[in-house]
Amino acid sequence: MSLQAPSFVRHQQLINWVAEVAALTKPAAIHWVDGSEAENQQLLAQMVAAGTLTPLNPAKRPDSYAAFSDPSDVARVEDRTFVCSARREDAGPNNNWMDPAQMRTTLNGLFDGCMAGRTLYVIPFSMGPLGSPIAHVGIELTDSPYVVASMRIMTRMGRNVYEVLGEDGPFVPCVHSVGAPLAAGQADKPWPCNPDTKYIVHYPETREIWSYGSGYGGNALLGKKCFALRIASTMGRDQGWLAEHMLILGVENPQGDKRYVAAAFPSACGKTNFAMLIPPKTYDGWKVTTVGDDIAWIKPAADGQLYAINPENGYFGVAPGTSVKSNPNAMAMLNEGVIFTNVALTDDGDVWWEGMSKDIPAHLTDWQGKDWTPDCGRKAAHPNARFTVPAAKCPSLDPAWNDPAGVPISAFIFGGRRSSTVPLVFEAASWEDGVYMAATMGSETTAAAFGAQGVTRRDPFAMLPFCGYHMGDYFQHWLDMAGKVSKLPRIFCVNWFRTDADGKFIWPGFGDNMRVLEWIVGRVQGTAQAEDSPLGKVPAYAHLNWAGMDGFTEQHFQQLMVLDEAAWRHELAAHDEWFAKLADALPASLAARRSKLAEALGV
Ligand code: GTP
Ligand code: SPV
Ligand code: MN
Repeated sequence: MSLQAPSFVRHQQLINWVAEVAALTKPAAIHWVDGSEAENQQLLAQMVAAGTLTPLNPAKRPDSYAAFSDPSDVARVEDRTFVCSARREDAGPNNNWMDPAQMRTTLNGLFDGCMAGRTLYVIPFSMGPLGSPIAHVGIELTDSPYVVASMRIMTRMGRNVYEVLGEDGPFVPCVHSVGAPLAAGQADKPWPCNPDTKYIVHYPETREIWSYGSGYGGNALLGKKCFALRIASTMGRDQGWLAEHMLILGVENPQGDKRYVAAAFPSACGKTNFAMLIPPKTYDGWKVTTVGDDIAWIKPAADGQLYAINPENGYFGVAPGTSVKSNPNAMAMLNEGVIFTNVALTDDGDVWWEGMSKDIPAHLTDWQGKDWTPDCGRKAAHPNARFTVPAAKCPSLDPAWNDPAGVPISAFIFGGRRSSTVPLVFEAASWEDGVYMAATMGSETTAAAFGAQGVTRRDPFAMLPFCGYHMGDYFQHWLDMAGKVSKLPRIFCVNWFRTDADGKFIWPGFGDNMRVLEWIVGRVQGTAQAEDSPLGKVPAYAHLNWAGMDGFTEQHFQQLMVLDEAAWRHELAAHDEWFAKLADALPASLAARRSKLAEALGV
């Protein structure tokens, strides 16, 4: 095996580190990824030959592939994710913690020889526009070609990154292995991983990431949740900015007044959909544009506003539920050049998933390669099946999406998946009230994380699985942002997911979320009316635009807005339980807000 780095790499410390990791993991070869199209084609062909990728019918979906993961490797593994800060209390009760020295010993054992028979790929990537002052560089070492192909879409990846790094530029070292070494002559699996042992590990002080055993999504594409959220959130705490699990969108009214908002919804709760919203037909002259669909880095600027960038370069979007009706912009991106993971295959070599079309195919090959018919009682696609596509293909892409300065944020929106209790929309009365609401946000869990689904848990700021430090300190950091800018965004909470007695969603959602977005932007602009509520300001029926929304009555609206006393008594008890867990670092002002809220609600 040659340790020789190519001439475009001039960073000795990086070269030494690659040699060190190679000495530990013992790969058969090292491949310094350059990001070229030729290299990409070669990797794709290699994965087709290995059975990792199935090429789709070129007449239906050119240059597109389907990957099928091991059934043990279908989502983020929160219970195997660790933040190994020097002190346990810095990781907080929201993270699994292990002593860093002990963890290094464990991982050294696991990584010893773990790349045997495989190629170690060196992936240079930038989160944020290449060379911009807000961007950060990472180097991911991985033994998965699927990760290389995915990182090429999801980040700015390639040899240009080495020009930014130069001879001694800073980078976040990320080491990833599927944890499936190959003995001499041993045949590989189409989706190698380690079904028994997984570790997704962060060392916040030294800003390092080590991931073992999984090839899937946020477990393996280390620029995303590990770097851009868990590590970046600790950088933001230290440097006075925010790394958030938020979409960013622009909304322009017919008068040409354009605002940007950032919205935090938990995993698989509608960020991609909202970011690409197409307004109802009656919204003539309105435009919604997309800056990002999953992650926002937000910084105070000299003009007294908060500016946000999307550090990613692509979308790793939830496939099930995505249709021409629910998200036409996303569907338009999926016509060619897509990597699908864990979707079902049609008999003519195309893809299908639950909710993609009204007509359900009579026969499919499901994500596990089994015959599937509509009456077989199984889902055809895995509920966390995803598509990976470049952001540049988005029809609603905002012209400023790549602007290193970012876009000014006028409002923050927080929304969980709640079948009851939380109304369609309200505006927090103050920054502190908004922080309280976001800090106590609950949501029913989804297939985006391994484990039980539909269980209501606290998911503050949609960051529970992604905050790299103590959640109480994170709340304080948010409270402190108020002192860092003169033009604070307003804070709103939404809930698209209230259900009726039959368990059906009351709110039509998707494009009709525009009606709520219009009200939110109107509040910021001072044009939308509101009335008082114990939660803050809410729209009365007459304050929203209902044009073209036939069959949705004032009674339906009231069903979405009503605050149920018993439900809120229960909700506040859940807040108390949650705050008790964070007690050692909970800002006192949030505890005070709780009493105020109980009084306002009369519970
Ligand atoms: P991550 O990528 O996991 O962070 O999630 P995301 O928030 O981007 O999820 P996405 O937008 O892909 O949401 C997927 C799920 O939310 C699908 O099941 C959608 O059908 C559902 N969804 C999105 N918007 C709405 C809505 O307005 N109403 C309802 N009822 N469901 C929605
Ligand atoms: C999420 O779970 O919030 C995602 C998908 O965006 S993953 O990249 O797998 O974390
Ligand atoms: Mn996400």
